[in-house]
Amino acid sequence: GRRSAQSREQTYVMVKPDGVQRGLVGEIISRFERKGFRLAGLKMFQCPKDLAKKHYEELQEKPFFPKLVKYITSGPVVCMAWEGPGVVASARKLIGSTNPLQAEPGTIRGDLAVAVGRNVIHGSDSVANGEREIGLWFGEAELCKWHLELTPWLL
Ligand code: TYD
Ligand code: MG
Repeated sequence: GRRSAQSREQTYVMVKPDGVQRGLVGEIISRFERKGFRLAGLKMFQCPKDLAKKHYEELQEKPFFPKLVKYITSGPVVCMAWEGPGVVASARKLIGSTNPLQAEPGTIRGDLAVAVGRNVIHGSDSVANGEREIGLWFGEAELCKWHLELTPWLL
């Protein structure tokens, strides 16, 4: 149904510093808009080191972790909360594989990136992580509620 919890599913998507510096913000937002998801939060943000570490805490033992934190904090990112039925899995499909050389053409990483350490965009990997990450990156007052009863052509 139109107002079901499923249609309120949210994911955290972020244009990484390389994507911002390469002028890909509009292109990336456009792909999610055209797909039909609702934008619930959007901001440009200089990420502090603590937040980058918390965001990627599951990867803290990986050899690439220090470089990853340095990359994410190297310049402003664009933070987004996207909403809609199945948005977490669908966003991952739109984004493509972690390694851009393995990402299919037509995906964001497949079309716009080459290196795993410069892969342009982040997307949450589960509904639970979507909630966790939106909570980390956004304050409650920065998120907009869509009134679906007033926009009945949206899912
Ligand atoms: P991960 O969560 O595995 O990938 P994804 O972004 O697709 O969810 O890893 C987080 C980021 O860490 C990834 O986008 C790029 C970086 N990374 C590396 O730099 N080297 C690696 O070998 C891996 C697996 C990831
Ligand atoms: Mg991940």
